[in-house]
Amino acid sequence: RWTEVDTYSMAHSHPASRPNTQALQETLAASDASALPRYALSAPQAKFLALHIRTAGVTHALEVGTLGGYAAIWMASENPQLHVTSVEYNAHHAAVARRNIAQAGLAARIEVIQGAALDVLPQLRAAVQRGDRPRFGFVFIDADKVHNWAYFQVARDMVRPHAVICVDNVVRDGQLVDGDDVDPSVRGSREVVENVGTMPGVDAVVLQTVGEKGYDGWLWAVVHA
Ligand code: DHB
Ligand code: MG
Repeated sequence: RWTEVDTYSMAHSHPASRPNTQALQETLAASDASALPRYALSAPQAKFLALHIRTAGVTHALEVGTLGGYAAIWMASENPQLHVTSVEYNAHHAAVARRNIAQAGLAARIEVIQGAALDVLPQLRAAVQRGDRPRFGFVFIDADKVHNWAYFQVARDMVRPHAVICVDNVVRDGQLVDGDDVDPSVRGSREVVENVGTMPGVDAVVLQTVGEKGYDGWLWAVVHA
């Protein structure tokens, strides 16, 4: 029933008459037609991030892992004040995302940077530290899971006080607790969960989730003032 509850509750809490419905549906359809993997957030997960951004008054968000642009389009379409910088390694995914973002009329507020996050994030950090870019109020890490902790540490250096850094897919059907699991994604998820609690100036929690995406969860970290 996890998927049915997502479908039912979204149909009522976010009816099809909402202004971003068509752009989001077209984004998923175009992503399928372009053979992108179905790793996009569920609608309620993406709307939750968008509502958090509104509550916190975030003006600049960073996303690591654009895929087809679905989460970025949710965040920007629900928040007219928001600028999103999104990093995508896969050139095909980046091209599909840019097309979806343009179709949604959000090209002026969602920037897709194509490249390896291990290269791009330190460049963004340098720009932030020079004062050439504003600090981010929200970071969503949803790329290859192996480098979760590396991405988290760079993100930590370029956020504002009270920013949230969210890492997707850390629970992985409960595989998170299996220290013998050799799956590199499990190891990368354990690494960020095990290290975040000892990082100065950060308070974090892992929230388990069920729904259309199955049983998973995300790490939610708040950076101190
Ligand atoms: C996978 C990646 C994701 O970002 C996601 O949300 C679900 C699954 C994966 O690599 O398996
Ligand atoms: Mg994900």
